[in-house]
Amino acid sequence: MVKIAVLGYGTVGSGVVQVLNTNQELIDKKSGTEVRVKYVLDLRDFPGDPIQDKIVHDFNVILNDPEVQVVVEVMGGLKPAYDFTKAALEAGKSVCTSNKELVAAHGSELLDIARSKNVNYLFEASCGGGIPIIRPLNSSLTADDIDEISGILNGTTNYILTEMTEKGADFADALKEAQELGYAERNPEADVEGYDPCRKIAILSSLAYGKTVHYEDVYTEGITKVSPEDILYAKKLKMAVKLLASGHKVTNGDKTNYYAMVAPFLVDKHHPLYSVNGVFNAVFVHGNMLGDAMFYGSGAGSLPTASAVVGDVVDAVRHGNRNISIFWDSEKLELSPNDTATRPFFLRVPASRKEEAEKLFNAEKTITIDTLPNEVGIVTGILTEKEFADRSETFGDVISRIRINQ
Ligand code: HSE
Repeated sequence: MVKIAVLGYGTVGSGVVQVLNTNQELIDKKSGTEVRVKYVLDLRDFPGDPIQDKIVHDFNVILNDPEVQVVVEVMGGLKPAYDFTKAALEAGKSVCTSNKELVAAHGSELLDIARSKNVNYLFEASCGGGIPIIRPLNSSLTADDIDEISGILNGTTNYILTEMTEKGADFADALKEAQELGYAERNPEADVEGYDPCRKIAILSSLAYGKTVHYEDVYTEGITKVSPEDILYAKKLKMAVKLLASGHKVTNGDKTNYYAMVAPFLVDKHHPLYSVNGVFNAVFVHGNMLGDAMFYGSGAGSLPTASAVVGDVVDAVRHGNRNISIFWDSEKLELSPNDTATRPFFLRVPASRKEEAEKLFNAEKTITIDTLPNEVGIVTGILTEKEFADRSETFGDVISRIRINQ
Protein backbone atom coordinates (compact mmCIF):
# COMPACT_ATOMS: atom_id res chain seq x y z
CA MET A 1 0.00 0.00 0.00
CA VAL A 2 1.13 3.57 -0.76
CA LYS A 3 0.00 6.40 1.50
CA ILE A 4 -0.39 9.88 0.11
CA ALA A 5 -0.94 13.33 1.59
CA VAL A 6 -2.96 16.06 -0.08
CA LEU A 7 -1.86 19.65 0.57
CA GLY A 8 -4.91 21.91 0.23
CA TYR A 9 -8.58 20.89 0.34
CA GLY A 10 -9.91 23.46 -2.11
CA THR A 11 -11.42 22.97 -5.58
CA VAL A 12 -8.66 20.66 -6.83
CA GLY A 13 -7.82 18.98 -3.50
CA SER A 14 -11.40 17.91 -2.89
CA GLY A 15 -11.51 16.72 -6.52
CA VAL A 16 -8.40 14.57 -5.92
CA VAL A 17 -10.06 12.88 -2.94
CA GLN A 18 -13.23 12.34 -5.00
CA VAL A 19 -11.33 10.84 -7.95
CA LEU A 20 -9.43 8.49 -5.63
CA ASN A 21 -12.64 7.39 -3.90
CA THR A 22 -14.77 7.01 -7.04
CA ASN A 23 -12.19 5.06 -9.05
CA GLN A 24 -10.42 3.39 -6.13
CA GLU A 25 -10.48 -0.16 -7.49
CA LEU A 26 -9.30 0.89 -10.94
CA ILE A 27 -6.58 3.17 -9.58
CA ASP A 28 -5.28 0.43 -7.28
CA LYS A 29 -5.11 -2.01 -10.19
CA LYS A 30 -3.32 0.47 -12.43
CA SER A 31 -0.90 1.45 -9.66
CA GLY A 32 -0.16 -2.18 -8.80
CA THR A 33 -0.88 -1.46 -5.14
CA GLU A 34 -3.47 0.22 -2.93
CA VAL A 35 -3.26 4.01 -2.93
CA ARG A 36 -4.80 5.67 0.12
CA VAL A 37 -4.99 9.22 1.47
CA LYS A 38 -3.45 9.40 4.93
CA TYR A 39 -3.50 13.17 5.49
CA VAL A 40 -5.13 16.27 4.11
CA LEU A 41 -3.37 19.49 5.05
CA ASP A 42 -5.53 22.58 5.33
CA LEU A 43 -5.82 25.56 7.65
CA ARG A 44 -9.54 24.86 7.99
CA ASP A 45 -11.52 22.03 9.56
CA PHE A 46 -14.28 20.27 7.65
CA PRO A 47 -16.75 18.98 10.25
CA GLY A 48 -19.07 16.34 8.76
CA ASP A 49 -16.77 15.71 5.77
CA PRO A 50 -15.42 12.13 5.61
CA ILE A 51 -11.86 13.49 5.37
CA GLN A 52 -12.17 15.42 8.67
CA ASP A 53 -10.30 12.70 10.58
CA LYS A 54 -7.41 12.99 8.10
CA ILE A 55 -7.09 16.76 8.41
CA VAL A 56 -3.80 18.04 9.80
CA HIS A 57 -2.72 21.65 10.20
CA ASP A 58 1.00 21.07 10.49
CA PHE A 59 3.02 20.09 7.40
CA ASN A 60 5.72 18.52 9.57
CA VAL A 61 3.34 15.69 10.46
CA ILE A 62 3.39 14.72 6.75
CA LEU A 63 7.08 15.43 6.21
CA ASN A 64 8.14 13.29 9.16
CA ASP A 65 5.88 10.35 8.37
CA PRO A 66 7.93 7.80 6.39
CA GLU A 67 4.73 6.04 5.36
CA VAL A 68 3.78 8.98 3.11
CA GLN A 69 5.51 8.34 -0.22
CA VAL A 70 3.63 10.75 -2.47
CA VAL A 71 2.58 14.31 -1.69
CA VAL A 72 -0.11 16.03 -3.77
CA GLU A 73 0.44 19.80 -3.74
CA VAL A 74 -2.74 21.54 -4.84
CA MET A 75 -2.51 24.64 -2.65
CA GLY A 76 -1.55 27.01 -5.47
CA GLY A 77 0.70 30.04 -5.10
CA LEU A 78 4.38 30.12 -4.21
CA LYS A 79 4.17 30.33 -0.44
CA PRO A 80 4.24 27.98 1.34
CA ALA A 81 3.92 25.56 -1.62
CA TYR A 82 7.57 26.05 -2.68
CA ASP A 83 9.00 25.28 0.77
CA PHE A 84 6.68 22.30 1.27
CA THR A 85 7.48 20.85 -2.16
CA LYS A 86 11.22 21.26 -1.71
CA ALA A 87 11.12 19.69 1.75
CA ALA A 88 8.99 16.75 0.55
CA LEU A 89 11.32 16.04 -2.41
CA GLU A 90 14.40 16.35 -0.22
CA ALA A 91 12.80 13.86 2.18
CA GLY A 92 12.52 11.40 -0.74
CA LYS A 93 8.80 11.78 -1.39
CA SER A 94 7.44 12.29 -4.93
CA VAL A 95 5.29 15.38 -5.46
CA CYS A 96 2.39 15.71 -7.93
CA THR A 97 0.95 19.16 -8.51
CA SER A 98 -1.46 21.36 -10.41
CA ASN A 99 0.38 24.49 -9.27
CA LYS A 100 1.42 26.28 -12.49
CA GLU A 101 2.73 29.31 -10.61
CA LEU A 102 5.21 27.16 -8.75
CA VAL A 103 6.17 25.02 -11.74
CA ALA A 104 6.71 28.15 -13.90
CA ALA A 105 8.79 29.84 -11.20
CA HIS A 106 10.85 26.90 -9.86
CA GLY A 107 10.18 23.91 -12.15
CA SER A 108 13.73 23.14 -13.23
CA GLU A 109 15.10 23.50 -9.69
CA LEU A 110 12.45 21.16 -8.26
CA LEU A 111 13.05 18.67 -11.08
CA ASP A 112 16.77 18.70 -10.21
CA ILE A 113 16.01 17.95 -6.56
CA ALA A 114 13.64 15.13 -7.55
CA ARG A 115 16.34 13.67 -9.82
CA SER A 116 18.97 13.83 -7.08
CA LYS A 117 16.66 11.98 -4.68
CA ASN A 118 15.42 9.38 -7.22
CA VAL A 119 11.84 10.49 -6.90
CA ASN A 120 9.52 12.47 -9.18
CA TYR A 121 8.07 15.94 -9.52
CA LEU A 122 5.07 15.60 -11.84
CA PHE A 123 2.84 18.42 -13.05
CA GLU A 124 0.50 17.21 -15.79
CA ALA A 125 -2.38 19.21 -14.25
CA SER A 126 -0.48 22.50 -14.35
CA CYS A 127 -1.33 23.13 -18.03
CA GLY A 128 -4.66 22.53 -19.72
CA GLY A 129 -6.51 21.00 -16.73
CA GLY A 130 -7.37 17.40 -17.61
CA ILE A 131 -5.73 17.42 -21.07
CA PRO A 132 -2.68 15.20 -21.37
CA ILE A 133 0.03 17.50 -22.77
CA ILE A 134 3.04 17.44 -20.42
CA ARG A 135 3.50 13.68 -20.73
CA PRO A 136 3.07 13.67 -24.57
CA LEU A 137 5.61 16.50 -24.88
CA ASN A 138 8.05 14.61 -22.71
CA SER A 139 7.61 11.21 -24.32
CA SER A 140 5.52 10.83 -27.49
CA LEU A 141 6.88 13.95 -29.21
CA THR A 142 10.56 13.56 -28.36
CA ALA A 143 11.43 12.63 -31.97
CA ASP A 144 10.30 16.03 -33.21
CA ASP A 145 11.77 19.49 -33.48
CA ILE A 146 8.77 21.52 -32.30
CA ASP A 147 8.47 24.92 -33.94
CA GLU A 148 5.08 25.93 -32.56
CA ILE A 149 3.11 25.28 -29.44
CA SER A 150 -0.01 27.44 -29.25
CA GLY A 151 -2.98 27.00 -27.09
CA ILE A 152 -6.14 28.14 -25.48
CA LEU A 153 -4.84 27.56 -21.99
CA ASN A 154 -7.34 29.32 -19.77
CA GLY A 155 -10.86 27.96 -19.32
CA THR A 156 -12.24 31.06 -17.63
CA THR A 157 -11.36 33.48 -20.42
CA ASN A 158 -12.39 31.02 -23.13
CA TYR A 159 -15.72 30.61 -21.33
CA ILE A 160 -16.15 34.41 -21.16
CA LEU A 161 -15.23 34.97 -24.83
CA THR A 162 -17.55 32.15 -25.92
CA GLU A 163 -20.47 33.54 -23.89
CA MET A 164 -19.80 37.01 -25.34
CA THR A 165 -19.69 35.58 -28.88
CA GLU A 166 -22.58 33.13 -28.75
CA LYS A 167 -24.98 34.84 -26.35
CA GLY A 168 -23.89 38.46 -26.50
CA ALA A 169 -23.23 38.12 -22.76
CA ASP A 170 -21.76 40.87 -20.70
CA PHE A 171 -18.10 40.38 -19.59
CA ALA A 172 -18.87 40.71 -15.86
CA ASP A 173 -21.79 38.22 -15.91
CA ALA A 174 -19.80 35.64 -17.84
CA LEU A 175 -16.89 35.98 -15.38
CA LYS A 176 -19.26 35.53 -12.43
CA GLU A 177 -20.63 32.31 -13.97
CA ALA A 178 -17.11 30.98 -14.59
CA GLN A 179 -16.27 31.67 -10.95
CA GLU A 180 -19.41 29.89 -9.76
CA LEU A 181 -18.53 26.88 -11.91
CA GLY A 182 -15.14 26.62 -10.18
CA TYR A 183 -13.04 27.53 -13.23
CA ALA A 184 -11.57 30.84 -12.13
CA GLU A 185 -8.50 31.47 -10.00
CA ARG A 186 -9.04 32.80 -6.48
CA ASN A 187 -8.06 36.17 -7.90
CA PRO A 188 -9.69 36.25 -11.36
CA GLU A 189 -7.26 38.95 -12.44
CA ALA A 190 -4.85 36.06 -13.08
CA ASP A 191 -7.31 34.72 -15.66
CA VAL A 192 -8.60 37.87 -17.35
CA GLU A 193 -5.22 39.64 -17.46
CA GLY A 194 -3.56 36.53 -18.90
CA TYR A 195 -1.14 35.81 -16.01
CA ASP A 196 -2.41 32.22 -15.70
CA PRO A 197 -1.89 31.24 -19.38
CA CYS A 198 1.45 33.12 -19.25
CA ARG A 199 2.68 30.65 -16.58
CA LYS A 200 1.33 27.74 -18.63
CA ILE A 201 3.00 28.73 -21.91
CA ALA A 202 6.28 29.31 -20.05
CA ILE A 203 6.05 25.70 -18.80
CA LEU A 204 5.07 24.25 -22.18
CA SER A 205 7.75 26.21 -24.06
CA SER A 206 10.37 25.13 -21.52
CA LEU A 207 9.41 21.51 -22.16
CA ALA A 208 9.21 21.97 -25.94
CA TYR A 209 12.64 23.66 -26.16
CA GLY A 210 14.39 22.03 -23.20
CA LYS A 211 15.57 25.24 -21.51
CA THR A 212 13.87 27.49 -18.99
CA VAL A 213 11.52 30.13 -20.37
CA HIS A 214 11.10 32.76 -17.68
CA TYR A 215 7.44 33.67 -17.44
CA GLU A 216 8.42 37.27 -16.68
CA ASP A 217 9.86 37.47 -20.23
CA VAL A 218 6.58 36.43 -21.88
CA TYR A 219 4.69 39.41 -23.35
CA THR A 220 1.19 39.15 -21.84
CA GLU A 221 -2.10 40.84 -22.59
CA GLY A 222 -5.50 39.77 -21.22
CA ILE A 223 -9.04 40.03 -22.56
CA THR A 224 -10.33 43.03 -20.59
CA LYS A 225 -10.13 45.33 -23.64
CA VAL A 226 -12.03 42.98 -25.97
CA SER A 227 -15.38 44.65 -26.67
CA PRO A 228 -18.70 43.43 -28.12
CA GLU A 229 -17.92 45.58 -31.19
CA ASP A 230 -14.64 43.71 -31.75
CA ILE A 231 -16.62 40.49 -31.65
CA LEU A 232 -19.04 41.78 -34.31
CA TYR A 233 -16.11 42.37 -36.65
CA ALA A 234 -14.63 38.95 -35.83
CA LYS A 235 -17.90 37.28 -36.81
CA LYS A 236 -18.06 39.24 -40.05
CA LEU A 237 -14.50 38.08 -40.85
CA LYS A 238 -15.54 34.47 -40.05
CA MET A 239 -13.04 34.45 -37.23
CA ALA A 240 -13.25 34.13 -33.46
CA VAL A 241 -11.48 36.10 -30.74
CA LYS A 242 -9.40 33.70 -28.64
CA LEU A 243 -6.88 34.32 -25.91
CA LEU A 244 -3.89 32.48 -27.35
CA ALA A 245 -0.75 31.55 -25.47
CA SER A 246 1.96 30.64 -27.89
CA GLY A 247 5.57 29.68 -28.24
CA HIS A 248 7.36 29.78 -31.61
CA LYS A 249 10.76 28.78 -32.84
CA VAL A 250 11.69 30.59 -36.06
CA THR A 251 14.82 29.53 -37.94
CA ASN A 252 16.35 31.77 -40.63
CA GLY A 253 19.53 30.29 -42.03
CA ASP A 254 21.73 29.57 -39.02
CA LYS A 255 19.85 31.94 -36.69
CA THR A 256 17.05 30.71 -34.47
CA ASN A 257 14.65 33.03 -32.68
CA TYR A 258 12.28 31.97 -29.93
CA TYR A 259 9.09 33.89 -29.20
CA ALA A 260 6.44 33.49 -26.53
CA MET A 261 3.37 35.60 -25.88
CA VAL A 262 -0.18 35.68 -24.52
CA ALA A 263 -2.75 37.95 -26.18
CA PRO A 264 -6.19 37.97 -27.76
CA PHE A 265 -5.99 36.86 -31.40
CA LEU A 266 -8.42 36.56 -34.27
CA VAL A 267 -8.47 32.91 -35.26
CA ASP A 268 -9.70 31.88 -38.70
CA LYS A 269 -12.57 29.39 -38.87
CA HIS A 270 -10.37 26.85 -40.67
CA HIS A 271 -7.91 26.68 -37.77
CA PRO A 272 -8.58 23.85 -35.28
CA LEU A 273 -8.42 26.31 -32.34
CA TYR A 274 -11.42 28.23 -33.78
CA SER A 275 -13.90 25.61 -32.56
CA VAL A 276 -12.53 25.33 -29.03
CA ASN A 277 -15.32 26.85 -26.98
CA GLY A 278 -16.53 27.25 -23.42
CA VAL A 279 -14.26 25.98 -20.67
CA PHE A 280 -12.47 23.67 -23.12
CA ASN A 281 -8.76 24.16 -23.69
CA ALA A 282 -6.61 22.96 -26.55
CA VAL A 283 -2.93 22.86 -27.32
CA PHE A 284 -1.87 22.95 -30.95
CA VAL A 285 1.61 21.60 -31.65
CA HIS A 286 3.57 21.70 -34.90
CA GLY A 287 6.62 19.49 -35.25
CA ASN A 288 9.01 19.22 -38.20
CA MET A 289 8.22 15.52 -38.65
CA LEU A 290 4.81 15.28 -37.00
CA GLY A 291 3.15 18.20 -38.78
CA ASP A 292 0.07 19.35 -36.86
CA ALA A 293 -1.41 17.81 -33.73
CA MET A 294 -3.97 19.15 -31.31
CA PHE A 295 -4.70 18.10 -27.74
CA TYR A 296 -8.21 19.04 -26.67
CA GLY A 297 -10.29 18.62 -23.54
CA SER A 298 -11.58 20.00 -20.25
CA GLY A 299 -9.23 22.78 -19.29
CA ALA A 300 -10.36 23.71 -15.78
CA GLY A 301 -12.62 22.62 -12.97
CA SER A 302 -12.27 20.33 -10.01
CA LEU A 303 -12.56 16.81 -11.47
CA PRO A 304 -10.77 17.25 -14.83
CA THR A 305 -7.81 18.84 -13.05
CA ALA A 306 -7.91 16.25 -10.27
CA SER A 307 -7.98 13.48 -12.89
CA ALA A 308 -4.62 14.71 -14.24
CA VAL A 309 -3.18 15.01 -10.72
CA VAL A 310 -4.23 11.47 -9.81
CA GLY A 311 -2.84 10.19 -13.13
CA ASP A 312 0.50 11.58 -11.96
CA VAL A 313 0.05 9.91 -8.56
CA VAL A 314 -0.39 6.55 -10.34
CA ASP A 315 2.78 7.26 -12.36
CA ALA A 316 4.70 8.24 -9.22
CA VAL A 317 3.58 5.03 -7.48
CA ARG A 318 4.48 2.89 -10.49
CA HIS A 319 7.97 4.41 -10.68
CA GLY A 320 8.68 4.29 -6.93
CA ASN A 321 12.32 5.28 -6.52
CA ARG A 322 13.04 5.62 -10.22
CA ASN A 323 13.24 9.12 -11.63
CA ILE A 324 11.40 9.82 -14.90
CA SER A 325 13.72 11.91 -17.04
CA ILE A 326 12.20 15.23 -18.06
CA PHE A 327 13.76 17.37 -20.81
CA TRP A 328 13.91 20.76 -19.04
CA ASP A 329 17.28 22.32 -18.28
CA SER A 330 17.75 25.20 -15.85
CA GLU A 331 19.64 27.23 -18.49
CA LYS A 332 17.60 30.28 -19.51
CA LEU A 333 16.07 30.36 -22.99
CA GLU A 334 16.59 33.85 -24.40
CA LEU A 335 13.39 35.00 -26.08
CA SER A 336 13.63 37.39 -29.00
CA PRO A 337 12.02 40.79 -28.53
CA ASN A 338 8.35 40.72 -29.43
CA ASP A 339 8.94 43.80 -31.62
CA THR A 340 10.47 41.64 -34.33
CA ALA A 341 7.58 39.14 -34.58
CA THR A 342 5.59 39.47 -37.82
CA ARG A 343 1.88 38.99 -38.46
CA PRO A 344 -1.23 40.70 -39.84
CA PHE A 345 -3.31 42.86 -37.50
CA PHE A 346 -6.95 43.93 -37.36
CA LEU A 347 -7.76 47.49 -36.35
CA ARG A 348 -10.79 49.76 -36.12
CA VAL A 349 -10.46 53.39 -37.21
CA PRO A 350 -12.88 56.31 -37.78
CA ALA A 351 -14.65 56.04 -41.15
CA SER A 352 -13.52 59.60 -41.96
CA ARG A 353 -9.86 58.43 -42.05
CA LYS A 354 -10.42 55.18 -43.98
CA GLU A 355 -8.16 55.89 -47.01
CA GLU A 356 -5.34 57.25 -44.88
CA ALA A 357 -5.44 54.16 -42.64
CA GLU A 358 -5.63 51.75 -45.58
CA LYS A 359 -2.45 53.26 -47.02
CA LEU A 360 -0.54 53.49 -43.74
CA PHE A 361 -1.28 49.92 -42.64
CA ASN A 362 -0.97 48.20 -46.08
CA ALA A 363 -4.62 47.16 -45.86
CA GLU A 364 -5.50 43.78 -47.32
CA LYS A 365 -9.19 44.12 -46.55
CA THR A 366 -11.58 46.79 -45.22
CA ILE A 367 -14.92 45.87 -43.72
CA THR A 368 -17.90 47.73 -42.34
CA ILE A 369 -20.65 46.85 -39.90
CA ASP A 370 -24.11 48.40 -40.51
CA THR A 371 -24.65 49.19 -36.84
CA LEU A 372 -21.26 50.95 -36.58
CA PRO A 373 -21.50 53.56 -39.36
CA ASN A 374 -18.80 55.88 -38.01
CA GLU A 375 -15.93 53.43 -38.26
CA VAL A 376 -14.32 50.77 -40.45
CA GLY A 377 -12.32 47.62 -39.71
CA ILE A 378 -9.03 46.99 -41.49
CA VAL A 379 -7.01 43.80 -41.93
CA THR A 380 -3.39 44.81 -42.45
CA GLY A 381 -0.71 43.18 -44.52
CA ILE A 382 2.13 41.43 -42.68
CA LEU A 383 3.90 43.84 -40.33
CA THR A 384 6.33 43.51 -37.48
CA GLU A 385 4.96 44.31 -34.04
CA LYS A 386 7.15 47.41 -34.02
CA GLU A 387 5.96 48.60 -37.43
CA PHE A 388 2.37 48.19 -36.33
CA ALA A 389 2.95 49.98 -33.03
CA ASP A 390 4.83 52.85 -34.70
CA ARG A 391 2.20 53.31 -37.41
CA SER A 392 -0.59 53.20 -34.81
CA GLU A 393 1.16 55.95 -32.90
CA THR A 394 1.61 58.02 -36.06
CA PHE A 395 -2.07 57.51 -36.95
CA GLY A 396 -3.15 58.30 -33.40
CA ASP A 397 -6.82 57.38 -33.79
CA VAL A 398 -6.99 53.59 -33.48
CA ILE A 399 -10.24 52.56 -31.76
CA SER A 400 -9.03 49.04 -31.04
CA ARG A 401 -6.69 46.41 -32.45
CA ILE A 402 -6.35 42.64 -32.30
CA ARG A 403 -3.57 40.48 -33.68
CA ILE A 404 -4.44 37.91 -36.34
CA ASN A 405 -3.23 34.34 -35.92
CA GLN A 406 -1.46 32.89 -38.94
N1 HSE B 1 -8.31 29.43 -13.73
C1 HSE B 1 -7.77 28.43 -14.57
C2 HSE B 1 -8.56 28.42 -15.87
C3 HSE B 1 -7.87 27.09 -13.90
O1 HSE B 1 -9.59 29.10 -15.94
O2 HSE B 1 -8.14 27.79 -16.83
C4 HSE B 1 -7.08 26.02 -14.56
O3 HSE B 1 -5.72 26.28 -14.54
